[in-house]
Amino acid sequence: MNQPQIQEDEQKHVDAFNARIAAGKTIEPKDWMPEKYRKQLLRMMSQHAHSEVVGMLPEGNWLTRAPSLMRKAVLLAKVQDEAGHGLYIYSGAETLGTDRAEMIDQLLSGKAKYASIFNYPTLNWADMGAVGWLVDGAAIVNQTALAKCSYGPYARAMIRICKEENFHSKQGYQIMAHMMSGTKEQQEMAQDAINRFWWPVLMMFGPSDADSPNSDDLMKWKVKLYSNDDLRQRFIDRTVPQAEAIGIKIPDDKLKWNPTTRHYEFGEINFDELKSVITGNGPCNKLRMKQRNDAHKNGAWVREAAIAYAEKRAKE
Ligand code: 3HC
Repeated sequence: MNQPQIQEDEQKHVDAFNARIAAGKTIEPKDWMPEKYRKQLLRMMSQHAHSEVVGMLPEGNWLTRAPSLMRKAVLLAKVQDEAGHGLYIYSGAETLGTDRAEMIDQLLSGKAKYASIFNYPTLNWADMGAVGWLVDGAAIVNQTALAKCSYGPYARAMIRICKEENFHSKQGYQIMAHMMSGTKEQQEMAQDAINRFWWPVLMMFGPSDADSPNSDDLMKWKVKLYSNDDLRQRFIDRTVPQAEAIGIKIPDDKLKWNPTTRHYEFGEINFDELKSVITGNGPCNKLRMKQRNDAHKNGAWVREAAIAYAEKRAKE
């Protein structure tokens, strides 16, 4: 094929791809897609899958210390759900041509990113409430938008994940509500957890729009339907009334309802802290990477057994 013919064919693919996006149709694994679209999605989906998996660590820390059998059973179910979320998203990401083992290697070697929030410590039981309510609450806001994104396998994975995240967020809120109706010490513990988690949770939505290098492409391709700042605002607007309902104070002196915009105004986010955590200098980055690497090594026999069993079944 000569060069002009190749260019013409390429342009036809680009036009068809753009037309599907403009019509709100999904892009499926076997559809033609620009290389940059594939790379951006792979980056985002693999980071997302890693976040689900690393996100099990701060809560796993409290499984053996839950205050009752009921709380333990609920937390255990939640942590197991997160493993499942990782699996769905890794499977979705594999449709873009990279093997799960390779993505996991990138996580374990420190090359890949995962959500900044999981580099903060969970110091006591109230933190299980704060993480469930706020972290999973923020994840729902982000992920209900992703459930309508342009890449079919990612959007479909989000539908079930969002249902489960809803349960996660409610169990966290219920822990907080319970503590806020308890003793003065329990109320102080709950408030202290929110004081520590509030700002890092706002950072989960990423840098402000002006400093978000990937947003232009992702919004153009309808992978992101809303910007980082829009989703952050949406999260604040829905969370502040929930806090008020149980007597929790949001640790932001500038927080104020604006009746004209019908949004809450809020104080300045310390994005230098986000940068520092993303680049490996958060309070628990080193611990999380060690825990994840140890878990991977300790699980080697399970992977080997599963492969041996699959081979045996294939021969039968
Ligand atoms: N933590 C870690 N890295 C972050 C981050 C955060 N909170 N926010 C931004 N970053 C990184 C980006 O990945 C990007 O780095 P890269 O170019 O090297 O990959 C850089 O900072 C610049 O940010 P951008 O705004 O340009 O990046 P994006 O446009 O990709 O937006 C995002 C960032 C909003 C996190 C987006 O990628 C996204 O929506 N991802 C999918 C959802 C996701 O990953 N959620 C993680 C939490 S899941 C979870 O919490 C589990 C649940 O069980 C609770």
